[in-house]
Amino acid sequence: MATAVCPGSFDPVTLGHVDIVRRASKMFDHVVVAVMTNPEKRPSFTAEERVALLKIALRDIPNVEIDCFNGLLADYTRVKNAAAIVKGLRAVSDFEYEFQMALTNKKLNPDVETVFLTTSAEYMYLSSSIVKQVASFGGDISGFVARETLQQIKERLCKGGAR
Ligand code: PNS
Repeated sequence: MATAVCPGSFDPVTLGHVDIVRRASKMFDHVVVAVMTNPEKRPSFTAEERVALLKIALRDIPNVEIDCFNGLLADYTRVKNAAAIVKGLRAVSDFEYEFQMALTNKKLNPDVETVFLTTSAEYMYLSSSIVKQVASFGGDISGFVARETLQQIKERLCKGGAR
């Protein structure tokens, strides 16, 4: 059984993330979507909130598990016995950072391959930061996040602001 890990900050999960996970779920037997720590980012949502939103946004995909891990991705792929790390690649600007991460993870765990899925054209511009910025100015984010998560994300961003 081939397992893939889809890691990310998911702060919060966008339709772009949902698209990548859905496509990964057709390529692998089991997909673990892991909320992880990006030391370069200061999240607006707690890890528990991000997990809860992912569970809602991805609930119609049967072979997906949502988890949370505060450590190295390479170590986590070992724990999960994963064959691959799946990441979405948006544009040239993503490439350098993702390439560096992929090579680092390969060095730390030679048994895992990083697989890049090119983002669907309709989500090329989309990111969690865009969602947070539009929401913080009272803009409409309904085209950016799963319908079932819209209210929760809006309320949370209004209540907590961008922490
Ligand atoms: O959605 P993001 O912020 O681009 O995801 C980045 C993430 C969380 C996958 C990355 O920062 C990560 O792998 N964090 C865990 C720590 C780690 O293993 N870093 C890579 C080696 S330095």
